[in-house]
Amino acid sequence: MNATINLENKHFPVLLNELISIISPLYGGTFIDCTFGQGGYSKKILEIKKNNIIALDRDKDVLNSASILQKKYNKRFKFYNLKFSQVDQIKLKDHIIKGVIFDLGYSLNQIKNPQRGLSFSDKGKLNMKLGINDFSANEIISNMSENNLTKVFKVFGDEKYSKKIAREIVKKRKYKSIKTEDLVQIIDNIKKYQKTKIHNSTKVFQSLRILVNKEISELINGLINSFNIIPIGGIIAVVSFHSIEDRIVKFFFKHYSEQRNTSRYLPEAEVSERCFKLINKKPILPSPSEIKQNPPSRSAKLRYGIKTNDNCDFSEFREKFNNLINVEDLR
Ligand SMILES: C[S@@+](CC[C@H](N)C(=O)[O-])C[C@H]1O[C@@H](n2cnc3c(N)ncnc32)[C@H](O)[C@@H]1O
Repeated sequence: MNATINLENKHFPVLLNELISIISPLYGGTFIDCTFGQGGYSKKILEIKKNNIIALDRDKDVLNSASILQKKYNKRFKFYNLKFSQVDQIKLKDHIIKGVIFDLGYSLNQIKNPQRGLSFSDKGKLNMKLGINDFSANEIISNMSENNLTKVFKVFGDEKYSKKIAREIVKKRKYKSIKTEDLVQIIDNIKKYQKTKIHNSTKVFQSLRILVNKEISELINGLINSFNIIPIGGIIAVVSFHSIEDRIVKFFFKHYSEQRNTSRYLPEAEVSERCFKLINKKPILPSPSEIKQNPPSRSAKLRYGIKTNDNCDFSEFREKFNNLINVEDLR
């Protein structure tokens, strides 16, 4: 358990001021913070007296930060150890939800906790579970077929050497169980002559984190279920960090903010109602000074939409990313 927040591991909430200014017209209501983490967003919203927060996080290690806010704000703050795909299971009682916010990825505490094995700098057993998981990265690396490992590295990491890396994993695991440092070594041996800006292991580790935490289906279901619990006028805001996440978030807001023919056989006039109003078509990015203060923020993108319609059918959204969900279901 990594419950103490020390200053070295302090997590800087990314795009905090931008996020607050987006939801500010809605001040005075209940907001759902789907990715509580160390509570950076929740704290800022609770500073305004009329606001309530319902917070979620799949990681039990955030309970310490949550209980601090619980004591300070009492009934104005409620925490659930749930995945955000389960956001529709919360009993909302009289709360009308003004906004749902997502800050995807991992907090610094999680990355710096060696037991999580999220980082290629760690040593020891592979893990990568954020909480409420069905399997770990160790189980994947120990048991998954060469073909499936290749697909996972290719689709979730865009790793050029997917096949070679998968083949070497399957060969090596016959003799010993592969730990974090062994996986890094396997990748280094294959890529030794490649000169790239990113660490040799970045892509493989990203793909394993996506698979272990089922990040794709979590995000798709989290967005749809959030839409279903907010009223018209409510806002959904998402900060994403990698290109797959941003593709999903962009499609969700962009596709469903356009008027489309519900069927190509129907007359032009019969178009579907928009589900969102978009104020910014382009994502909001961190300022140079934020990036200087907190370099990991450089890949963050903030997108948001305001709900305009209750009757939205998200089957096209699911279909669009079905190929990714199929890879997430591989074992
Ligand atoms: C980048 S951190 C959030 C930081 C937070 N905004 C802050 O200011 O402290 C992301 C958090 O989301 C949580 N998380 C990631 N995926 C989740 C999911 N599917 N459901 C619930 N929580 C999730 C992680 O455990 C982590 O604590």
